[in-house]
Amino acid sequence: MISEQAKQRMRDLAARYPVARSAVMPALHMVQQEEGYITDEGLQAVADALNMTTDDVESVATFYTMYYQQPKGKKVIKVCNSISCYLRNCDALIEHLQQRLGIKPGETTPDGKYTLMTVECLASCTTAPALQVNDEFVENVTIESADALLAELDQELNNPRPPLPEREQVITFESPRSEVRLS
Ligand code: FES
Repeated sequence: MISEQAKQRMRDLAARYPVARSAVMPALHMVQQEEGYITDEGLQAVADALNMTTDDVESVATFYTMYYQQPKGKKVIKVCNSISCYLRNCDALIEHLQQRLGIKPGETTPDGKYTLMTVECLASCTTAPALQVNDEFVENVTIESADALLAELDQELNNPRPPLPEREQVITFESPRSEVRLS
């Protein structure tokens, strides 16, 4: 359920732009932070806050791979399979991750820990092959470093740290003001 606080933050954000719909991407991030993925209720909340149709909001939400259309694992591993990463053997990396996790791209492990995805260019072509774990980049990935990464992630998932005190999150956008505070 989208909180009233999140809805108000969307409206506040929209008011900072000359055109309210310009706030659609950060508003969708707010939905994803609250729901874990882009729900129908989230689409409606964004549409209401930004005076858009749900179809318009959905067209943005489904265009970008950073917005999830269904529940995902705690760790979402996105492996780039565009040209630079392809030339640096991302296929072998993807195959290896499939075998290690027992899932194919687009699937989530039954324990809900991992989702594996293949995505288009992550803009890290000079350090290919590249992947992201949630929002963190991992570059120059090898089979060995992928194994080390999975071991690290397993360790983290099996020994979750106590939550940190809530702190202000800042996402930077170019327009119309350089900084948008999400809480
Ligand atoms: S091609 Fe993989 S990061 Fe650009």
